[in-house]
Amino acid sequence: MKDRWIHEKLEADIGHDRYLHSVRVMETCIDLARHHGYHVEKVAIAGLLHDCGRLLDVKRMLKLIGDFDIILDSIARDNTGLIHAILGEELARREYHIGDVEVLNAIRFHTTGRENMNSTEKIVYIADIIEPNRNFPGVENIRDMAYRDIDGSILHSMEGTLKFLIETSAPIHLDTIRARNQLLRLKKWGDTR
Ligand SMILES: [Fe+2]
Ligand SMILES: [Fe+2]
Repeated sequence: MKDRWIHEKLEADIGHDRYLHSVRVMETCIDLARHHGYHVEKVAIAGLLHDCGRLLDVKRMLKLIGDFDIILDSIARDNTGLIHAILGEELARREYHIGDVEVLNAIRFHTTGRENMNSTEKIVYIADIIEPNRNFPGVENIRDMAYRDIDGSILHSMEGTLKFLIETSAPIHLDTIRARNQLLRLKKWGDTR
């Protein structure tokens, strides 16, 4: 991304470490898009801005949710992990002047995933999980899969997330369950309905 103001604003809003994470996600998105033959510019900006709603100031996040009249569902309401993606979509539109719906949706659904994810959404979702500084057990396997079979890599990593959420007694967003079931149908029966 050439627009320097975007980088400066992003770093000021989300902090240096998360900004560096965002740049790594952007670079991973570009790499995956080149590999799979997808639109590089779309995924680059979506990757860079995917965490733009994760403001350093959590109180400001909650205030903006109210100011923008964003209605949160019962799962997202108490979860800043989910709120930042929903707020991020709105900030991308209002403050970073993003009008491309694919880019906006990639930001909005980068934490939960959803049914019928498009290519931009899929690349941002998995790039966030496999960027070079991620080092959880099994990441190498998911990284390899992302270049061979992007749907399979998302399914595999979602199932890991679902297990973790159950083990830690955390609520599960329905979008993730629907996304996982669809990817499972696709894997088992080639069925994308
Ligand atoms: Fe995020
Ligand atoms: Fe992220």
